[in-house]
Amino acid sequence: MEPDIRKGLEGVIADKTAVSRMDPATQTLTYRGYPVTELAERCGFEEVAYLLWYGELPTRAQLKAFQAVERKRRALPDDLLFLLQHSPAGSHPMDVLRTAVSYLGLSVPVAHDVESQRRQTLDLLARIPTIVAVDARARQGLAPIPPRSDLSLAENVFWMTFGRVPHPDIVKAFEVALILYAEHGFNASTFAARVVTSTMADLHGAVTAGIAALKGALHGGANEAVIVDLAQVGSPENARTWLKARLSEHRKIMGFGHRVYRNGDSRVPLAAAWGRRVAAIVGNDRWHAIGDVLREAMREEKGIHPNLDFETGPMYALMGFAPAQFTPIFVMGRVVGWTAHILEQAADNRLIRPMSFYVGVPARPFVPIERRVATEGEAEPVPATPRVRARILGGPRQVAAGRNSPATPHRERPASPH
Ligand SMILES: CC(C)(COP(=O)(O)OP(=O)(O)OC[C@H]1O[C@@H](n2cnc3c(N)ncnc32)[C@H](O)[C@@H]1OP(=O)(O)O)[C@@H](O)C(=O)NCCC(=O)NCCS
Repeated sequence: MEPDIRKGLEGVIADKTAVSRMDPATQTLTYRGYPVTELAERCGFEEVAYLLWYGELPTRAQLKAFQAVERKRRALPDDLLFLLQHSPAGSHPMDVLRTAVSYLGLSVPVAHDVESQRRQTLDLLARIPTIVAVDARARQGLAPIPPRSDLSLAENVFWMTFGRVPHPDIVKAFEVALILYAEHGFNASTFAARVVTSTMADLHGAVTAGIAALKGALHGGANEAVIVDLAQVGSPENARTWLKARLSEHRKIMGFGHRVYRNGDSRVPLAAAWGRRVAAIVGNDRWHAIGDVLREAMREEKGIHPNLDFETGPMYALMGFAPAQFTPIFVMGRVVGWTAHILEQAADNRLIRPMSFYVGVPARPFVPIERRVATEGEAEPVPATPRVRARILGGPRQVAAGRNSPATPHRERPASPH
């Protein structure tokens, strides 16, 4: 009898955590007990990072000391700067970031004590924005702008990318998004980082796994995909027709839906409000005009709500970031959640090792290589005997239609979404 398999581990509670709590019933999210919306409105990003790592909000003195260390560690080693400026043309910024984090790990001794791990997490918090900014400029043939220690982490991202710090509300909107992205329970990338940590592998390896998992369009890659889609829709008048055509092809609409929140993402209202504030400041409501029609049409057609990526995609575009930088910006925030979970996993570790239910070919006799014949159209050799072949193949090969297969997004980059 087939066991109870939860495809995609839906609804499975894999472990306990004290980092955050998502409550889909009330559409709320708390970090260490505090509502994330209140943290985003009232705290800086560094303050929230401190809370997620240490479990308590910092005092003024603790925050000052924490920020002083973070600000000192922003610069990158020369060899990494060289690597970033010589990445292969056409490489995706998420792959460059994954490689850079992995590279930083090469000179860090593996350590399992909390103090060393905390030092490593703070290094990553400080350096990831620099990596993303250096890479963004290198793609345009521009020299890096060194980090400034008199700026907050969010201000410094703008400084290192564009050489200027924008209107304070634009910086605040960016910071709100970093806070909203910082942590979200056992999502795919955090779980990947916890799985790697559970083997007692190093912290940089676990964060690298997190980055690899976040890149996918069903996870963090959705914020890039959203702006690509909005650019393709082109105008509010075209939005409803575009959406219906997509849905009729059984394709997913990026930036909509969530595994846990079925009635709406708790982070969306605040992100949407700040996104509109940014649009007002820069005087461009193009993306929101299209987004409004899509949101309404999606609710009518499928009853599915937008997620955080639907709001941050247009917001980052209006701020001037290139679409391929959106998911690396997500990493700047989520690295805090990953590392909080890595520390939590390491503190009370047990190897994560689930089971699978075998549905392959039944046990069969070994076939010596002289008797094997490749079947037409088959990539792998199968035994020659027609009876055995028929038993294995069961007639012409069927391509399994996975639930998500028709929707797998084909992403095209717009020349410029601004
Ligand atoms: C987030 C996501 C992966 C959750 O997936 P999930 O929990 O496995 O849900 P499913 O893919 O099984 O979807 C359930 C149903 O809703 C539909 N659905 C879910 N999200 C959809 C979307 N964005 N567009 C169109 N249909 C969607 C599915 O087609 C499915 O319909 P069906 O039952 O008729 O086949 C999914 O909503 C998605 O792919 N969204 C787009 C990518 C995205 O924005 N990711 C960022 C998440 S924060």
